[in-house]
Amino acid sequence: MDQSTSPAAVYNDAVVRQFSVMAVVWGVVGMLVGVVIAAQLTWPELNLGIPWLSYGRLRPLHTNAVIFAFGGCALFGTAYYVVQRTCQVRLFGGWLASFTFWGWQAVIVAAAITLPLGYTSGKEYAELEWPIDILIAVVWVSYAIVFFGTIGTRKVRHIYVANWFYGAFIIAVALLHIVNSAAMPASFWKSYSAYAGVQDAMVQWWYGHNAVGFFLTAGFLGMMYYFIPKQAERPVYSYRLSIVHFWALIFTYMWAGPHHLHYTALPDWTQSVGMVFSLILLAPSWGGMINGVMTLSGAWHKLRDDPILRFLIVALSFYGMSTFEGPMMSIKTVNALSHYTDWTVGHVHSGALGWVGLITMGSLYYLIPRLFGQKQMYSVKAIELHFWSATIGIVLYIAAMWIAGVMQGLMWRAVNTDGTLTYTFAESVKATWPFYAVRLLGGLLYLGGMLVMAWNMVMTMLNARPAAVAIPLPAAAAAH
Ligand code: HEM
Ligand code: HEM
Repeated sequence: MDQSTSPAAVYNDAVVRQFSVMAVVWGVVGMLVGVVIAAQLTWPELNLGIPWLSYGRLRPLHTNAVIFAFGGCALFGTAYYVVQRTCQVRLFGGWLASFTFWGWQAVIVAAAITLPLGYTSGKEYAELEWPIDILIAVVWVSYAIVFFGTIGTRKVRHIYVANWFYGAFIIAVALLHIVNSAAMPASFWKSYSAYAGVQDAMVQWWYGHNAVGFFLTAGFLGMMYYFIPKQAERPVYSYRLSIVHFWALIFTYMWAGPHHLHYTALPDWTQSVGMVFSLILLAPSWGGMINGVMTLSGAWHKLRDDPILRFLIVALSFYGMSTFEGPMMSIKTVNALSHYTDWTVGHVHSGALGWVGLITMGSLYYLIPRLFGQKQMYSVKAIELHFWSATIGIVLYIAAMWIAGVMQGLMWRAVNTDGTLTYTFAESVKATWPFYAVRLLGGLLYLGGMLVMAWNMVMTMLNARPAAVAIPLPAAAAAH
């Protein structure tokens, strides 16, 4: 796709470089805040009595930083890289791509200031107040113009499947953000949701679940469909399956939101619809995972000495794990045990650290040397080290949370023969303490790996050749 040396027009890789570097920077920041809040849950004294360093304010800072800053920058950067290569044309819209970079960084900085100050709409993953929401909408629509404009001006007839996933992610997130953020401003930093009561809850979790389905899944599947075949030097296992995967996944995700509201005031039938669609979701999720993993068929040996491929393939195993666990947790009787417990947090991080984190890191390890005119990262050994410290970190994190979660659920529901509760809530908190300590250790290992990546990236950049700035269009495209 992108091996030619034709001196014709060039791709816009400046913006890809900017987003890729910032993905690593925000990854370090977001995970550091994750480690801080994990330490605060272990030792509450670490709240230090300072409101803007308290757990309640740092937690949304963590989720916003890892999802929208780390994940978001990786998604913008890789989407811009992939769409240019697969359409064999420069990014559409000229300066608009650069605007999306600076606009997105402005959103992140605004979040990093307002969340610790306590400005929040109170909606999970949509905490930012209305002026920032408007900026997000403007940046996102610009992103859509750049992306779909590039598809519209493409020099190849076929639209490669990775672009379908990126495209669905861009459209869905615009829709979700604009509908869920509708609010009545009361002052510059305070607004009230346009919805009330159970409708507000339903709109919020329609948004929340599809933030998982489209922000944390569909966009990263776009990465999978481009970077796994590239790194493995093999075509996608089944292109037909990738199309079925796409339509089945995007259709099904939209209906699963009510599984976040089991046993609430939401009508019972709506909860059941959410549960059934969540169970169906197992099929397209696993179809996609199998398609990604089987892309390696005939090249399994590469896993032995290619740490980048290992990042990408182990990401898929965690994807498979969390998309098996999710449907199970959506079954109402299972959710009666798991909801409110650390099991949910374990599920979240097997998806977030295992799937989102590892697929991003693998894709960035593929991208960074190419963006800076190098054959490979400065240190391959450091990639290896990162892989193991991240993987061990994830296993510690999620195993601790699973055990803690099931234990909490069982302790809370245990009753004596006379109907009184067997355990007080404080007893369950005390029993959870060792698991919080293990989670903290897992988080430190994961963060340590990210710091190694940041060092490796800086060293690769320092070795950069100036020629890297202009990457030529393929001959096929130039000939058109
Ligand atoms: C087939 C796919 C999946 C299904 C059916 C599913 C289902 C669920 C269920 C039932 C819950 C618990 C809701 C509750 O008790 O409140 C949950 C929570 C969550 N899941 Fe998944 N999950 C899936 C995949 C994933 C993946 C891949 C990720 C991450 C990349 C993820 C991220 C989350 C998050 C962030 C929450 C917590 C939401 C919150 O309460 O703040 N899920 N999921
Ligand atoms: C060093 C790595 C990380 C550590 C130590 C960490 C730690 C934490 C902690 C302590 C919480 C609060 C749990 C609670 O409410 O009881 C949390 C929540 C959360 N984190 Fe992380 N995290 C890390 C990385 C990530 C990454 C990379 C992502 C996403 C890509 C992520 C997404 C989330 C989400 C969505 C929640 C909210 C979960 C929920 O509401 O159930 N985290 N994290």
